[in-house]
Amino acid sequence: MSDYTTIVSETRGRVGWLTLNRPEALNALNSTLVAELADAAMAFDRDEAIGAIVVTGSERAFAAGADIKEMAGKSARDMAMENPFAALEDFARVRTPVVAAVAGFALGGGCELAMMCDVVLAADTAVFGQPEIDLGVIPGIGGTQRLTRAVGYYKAAELVLTGRRMPAEEAERAGLVSRVVPAAQLLDEAGAVAERIASRSLPVAYAAKQALRASQETSAAEGLRLERTLFASLFALEDQKEGMAAFAEKRAPEFRHR
Ligand code: CAA
Repeated sequence: MSDYTTIVSETRGRVGWLTLNRPEALNALNSTLVAELADAAMAFDRDEAIGAIVVTGSERAFAAGADIKEMAGKSARDMAMENPFAALEDFARVRTPVVAAVAGFALGGGCELAMMCDVVLAADTAVFGQPEIDLGVIPGIGGTQRLTRAVGYYKAAELVLTGRRMPAEEAERAGLVSRVVPAAQLLDEAGAVAERIASRSLPVAYAAKQALRASQETSAAEGLRLERTLFASLFALEDQKEGMAAFAEKRAPEFRHR
């Protein structure tokens, strides 16, 4: 798949950019967009020339949630059998670090998509929330789990149970956002963060992401064991030798990129 209709996928240096592009629906996640986003992210993940991915939307909306119009008439059987958001699990599992650049609405599935990324940069215009309760449902793409881990039970419960929208500054204080930047600088900052990640060793970035993800998905004891194993295994890489030699020689490391 490469003739995408709901996203734009492009490469700038070692960074893959994915821009959600359904302006008529504030980038609502319909089945086509979900499939295209996952396909494009996995294609970047297979490409050794890509060291980081940026996911962004428009100035007005990162994404206003799952597509309500597409879902409205479905039965419980349809939702169970079609599992319409399953492809986002593939997106969440890419090894390559992903930077979300969020401006405007990040609601419902939009907030959940941001939480599948590794670094969340927010414009000062960004607004986060899980308003599914107002539609007679609950978050269905990880919102009750990832939001609770990001901001703690009580704040997550307030947001999920009331549907209240949370501005960027509050989201940063709460731990949902890595950093808030002025809206005009959002894409430049996201590009700079992604380039910085991509300039390092790719297998080491994979290991870092894998260990970080374990902190969200396993017990601390299991996560600590995985971290120790990964840490030791990195000493088999040329990039570890190069990184430590460069430190001793007081020069910048030259990591192998291909
Ligand atoms: N699905 C489908 N279409 C959507 C949409 C969505 N989630 N969000 C916005 N749109 C559409 C609107 O219907 C509208 O289309 P028309 O012009 O054809 O009427 C267009 O985008 C522009 O939206 P608005 O006119 O509503 O713009 P606004 O500035 O007045 O309001 C908003 C913006 C507050 C984000 C409002 O659109 C809104 O509340 N959207 C829905 C947010 C929401 O409930 N998200 C959760 C979805 S459910 C979910 O995500 C479940 C899950 O976890 C799996």
